[in-house]
Amino acid sequence: MLELQAVHYHPATVPQPVLRQANLKLAVGTPVLVAGRSGSGKTTLLELISGLAEADGGRFLWNNEPVAARQRRWLSGLVFQFPERHFLGLTVGQELRLGQRRLGGEAIDQVLAQVGLTGISLQQAPERLSGGQQRRLALAVQLLRNPRVLLLDEPTAGLDWTVREEVLGLLDQLARERALLVVTHEPELFAGRFSQAWQLVDGGLRPLLPATVLTMAPDGSS
Ligand SMILES: Nc1ncnc2c1ncn2[C@@H]1O[C@H](COP(=O)(O)OP(=O)(O)O)[C@@H](O)[C@H]1O
Ligand SMILES: [Mg+2]
Repeated sequence: MLELQAVHYHPATVPQPVLRQANLKLAVGTPVLVAGRSGSGKTTLLELISGLAEADGGRFLWNNEPVAARQRRWLSGLVFQFPERHFLGLTVGQELRLGQRRLGGEAIDQVLAQVGLTGISLQQAPERLSGGQQRRLALAVQLLRNPRVLLLDEPTAGLDWTVREEVLGLLDQLARERALLVVTHEPELFAGRFSQAWQLVDGGLRPLLPATVLTMAPDGSS
């Protein structure tokens, strides 16, 4: 479990802290949703968790042991908002192998199956994939690193209804084997999929109301 204890973040250039003494627990099997308006600090929260930014106060614990930013970079897989804008590979295969030269075909096949991309051609350009497939590819790239904590920044942003459903359908399964944190400005789309939901307001995390966003049944079928 990854735990944030009183995490504080206040860049000198902004008048108010972006995060004030934020507490959060991310456990395997308990997906967490953090909702918040644009500019409320959602992306910053993910950058702090994944070790891309350094907090000004507070602690991060992994299984009750303090973890520095560098260790959190290994533990976390961050899928950016609009990840398809950051594809670097000329082909799907290259994109999957970025940063991991020694990746067996078996590992790739396994991850592609996990995100529902079994059988896609690795020779094609990522841009040739459909919108939903591109999002799945971005997820696959992170899953290949086998992160213990998966962080998704606005995974439904800019997707039309059917593609959104495709992506949402993956979340339950992804949460089973790792800690999962999704941040979004449209929490209503995630109704029934999360057992814990918070709202980021004035730099603090409060329980998200209405409770309709919370899972009603253990199998998420509510
Ligand atoms: N390193 C930084 N320096 C200055 N301002 C920052 C820094 N990091 C975050 N912020 C500010 O924090 C606020 C929250 O931004 P962000 O995390 O992108 O919000 P969200 O993802 O919820 O839209 C913004 O006003 C942003 O300018
Ligand atoms: Mg953001």
